[in-house]
Amino acid sequence: MAFPVQRLRRTRRTAALRGLVRETRLSPQDFIYPMFVTVGEDARNPVGSMPGVFQLSINRAVEEAKRVHDLGIPGVLLFGLPGEKDEAASGAYDPEGIVQLATRAIKDAVPELLVVTDVCLCEYTSHGHCGVVEKDTGQVLNDVSLELISRTAASHAEAGADIVAPSDMMDGRVAAIRSELDNEGFENTPIMAYAAKYASAFYGPFREAADSAPQFGDRRSYQMDPANAREALLEVELDVGEGADMVMVKPALPYLDVLRRVRETTDLPVAAYSVSGEYAMIKAAAQNGWLDEKTAVLEALTGIKRAGADIIVTYFAPDAARWLS
Ligand code: PBG
Repeated sequence: MAFPVQRLRRTRRTAALRGLVRETRLSPQDFIYPMFVTVGEDARNPVGSMPGVFQLSINRAVEEAKRVHDLGIPGVLLFGLPGEKDEAASGAYDPEGIVQLATRAIKDAVPELLVVTDVCLCEYTSHGHCGVVEKDTGQVLNDVSLELISRTAASHAEAGADIVAPSDMMDGRVAAIRSELDNEGFENTPIMAYAAKYASAFYGPFREAADSAPQFGDRRSYQMDPANAREALLEVELDVGEGADMVMVKPALPYLDVLRRVRETTDLPVAAYSVSGEYAMIKAAAQNGWLDEKTAVLEALTGIKRAGADIIVTYFAPDAARWLS
């Protein structure tokens, strides 16, 4: 009989051989860990749909930030739960707002840890939309929102944010933020743009965590249609042209094709956000004994990196970092 000349199983035989030919290597340095910071004293409120994720008061967020840094994770991404919401999203750009205070506290306690701030209005508006809503029509107004969004970004930079990450999906926001940052003396603060952000059902658990569900309608007039991939490339091109330093694709797992195409169109660092629903799915299956959590998480994160992500934003960051060390 004729023997196979090529036997790919030869290099799969032992762990050492498999390690030698491994193409994609995950590391804690790939991760950014999202955190929800809330007003209040010494709070650690569990998020029901995201087991293991908590809304943390500033003192608890600082403790968590230290833990994250000790695990070799380079950065955290902050979301804020303000005491009060209004139509102008005042809490978003308040110099003493929750994210601004948390940023200062974390940078004070763990200066080497990167603080990335999510720049959006939806956690701060009474209606839960990512921009200013026109009363009569219920439309989310683009250019008026840009002013508030760029003010928010500048207030984060002023509080010490290392990177600002706009997630609102208004047109022109990267340019608006860049110019506001430059005017205010923050020309060295990078922008990580949520460039291709889809209107996704997988944000469900996040809206519980961040208390940011829209009170009417949905986000389809500003977030992308899940059916579109070429449009993602246009979004990336615009954001790069407007001065983005890094671009993001979000969610991750249902959009790995988009991630790959974005990787191939830009040489800027590409981030992928493995969102709350991706976390919740694996957690729920693992809790039911239907999946092995560790193997499933590492496989999913490896897939995201293999598809082209340089940076992975994931709620699994601390667990994955522990498993990898
Ligand atoms: C804010 C924002 C959202 C997420 C990140 N930034 C929610 C949304 O757009 O509704 C989702 C993150 C996640 O699901 O983990 N605009």
